[in-house]
Amino acid sequence: MTQLHLGHVFHVAGSPALTGAASALVSIPDGALAVDGSGRIVFCGERAALPPEFDGAEVRDHRPGFLLPGFVDTHIHFPQTFAGDSYGGGQLLEWLEHCIFPSESRFADPEFAARAAVEFCDRRIAAGTTAAMVFGSAFPHAQDALFAETRRRGLRIVSGRGIQTVGPDSAAALITSEEDALRLTRDEIDRWHAADTGDVATALLHVAIVPRFSLSVTTHTLKDLGELYDSVRDRGVYVHSHLNENNRPGTGEVASVKQMYGVHTYLDTYDGKFGPGSSVGGKSLLGRRTILAHCVHCEDSELERMAETGTSIAHCPVSQLFLGSGTMPWKRTVASGVNISAGTDFGGGDEWLIARVVADAFKVHMGEDGDAAVAMHPAEMLFLGTLAGARALDMEDRFGNFDAGKEADFVVVEPARVPALAGAINHGVRSSDRERATEQTLFALLMGLREPAITEVYVQGRRLHEERSSR
Ligand code: GUN
Ligand code: ZN
Repeated sequence: MTQLHLGHVFHVAGSPALTGAASALVSIPDGALAVDGSGRIVFCGERAALPPEFDGAEVRDHRPGFLLPGFVDTHIHFPQTFAGDSYGGGQLLEWLEHCIFPSESRFADPEFAARAAVEFCDRRIAAGTTAAMVFGSAFPHAQDALFAETRRRGLRIVSGRGIQTVGPDSAAALITSEEDALRLTRDEIDRWHAADTGDVATALLHVAIVPRFSLSVTTHTLKDLGELYDSVRDRGVYVHSHLNENNRPGTGEVASVKQMYGVHTYLDTYDGKFGPGSSVGGKSLLGRRTILAHCVHCEDSELERMAETGTSIAHCPVSQLFLGSGTMPWKRTVASGVNISAGTDFGGGDEWLIARVVADAFKVHMGEDGDAAVAMHPAEMLFLGTLAGARALDMEDRFGNFDAGKEADFVVVEPARVPALAGAINHGVRSSDRERATEQTLFALLMGLREPAITEVYVQGRRLHEERSSR
């Protein structure tokens, strides 16, 4: 039966680039979203303009609430579910060694991992994150728990076990041989890729090949993974990793990668050019289904290569603040034409909510030096957290906005559940210019949104529920 959801609709329509998001912003204060029995959007527009065919539809009246596309988190760590706000680390490499590797090692216990999978899905539903690229656990039983729980709860996911073949002592439990790394990754693809429907075009579950970062693997691993990827690319398998996150001089991540591989740029290690002097050693891991997190310290040639290959950047400013990683240069990165989406990077970031990520994006880019400072448009913020994420996952044709024919992934926001948000929405100054007033309302919504205001979450028109079972 067709459902009719009523509320103030905001979405970025069509398929614009980030720079076109402002003119593609749709705001319908007295809006209606109709979802047919198969979970597809059949109407999005003014309530007053609803065609008579919807007269008998089941009405869900969310007014004075808002309807937004479901949030897309393109970089989040499942085995860090309980590791947000880890204290005693420092910047990236020390934090990994002292906080994160020990934390992730706890997933060796199947019961612990299963409990984390429940909590992870709960946190995602509470935050309205309907689709996500999830950096997985090293342990196959933990990944099984994650995929099974995600399927049970009705969320979308792309995930793969985090691959590590070298590392410090604290990562010992997470490290496998080169052979096992390849075998376990291949097994995961065979077990879980499109396991729910048997067809990537309709599946909610997808698998990625996930080398943790270049410092956790070797040229041997990268060569093997390049060949594996080449053999499964046409099955719609993904690639996920980290790039150019920490550039502390001499001892940071970027310097260590260049020193370990002898490459000109960090990106070369993922692009098959991992031999000394960036000589070709194997096949590239880049492409339309590849997402690289952070990219704070990229050279122009790296941005160009990502744009050329269709590789996306998961922008994670909350994490970059927490780990002191610096600020991704917004104007320069956008100008390269690379697709940029949003990532919480939980537990490098300490927020599950994508709205918090785009809010911090606004703040850090406002604070860039001199002419690089920029005030992001609220439509760009919404785009970053929704449609750009769907694009990064190469599923823009399926979700990310309310265009007719797409699968109905959306959240209901009731400002009244968060008094500070309600105050900003109801009593904030609004311009007499209609367009500016719309921007002000969307900005207030994205800046002030907190989990309790997300009262309903839908994937393919089906309502999902937080179970709070692991509290
Ligand atoms: N680089 C390698 N591993 C990680 C991780 O777990 N989190 C972050 N933020 N960066 C990484
Ligand atoms: Zn990360």
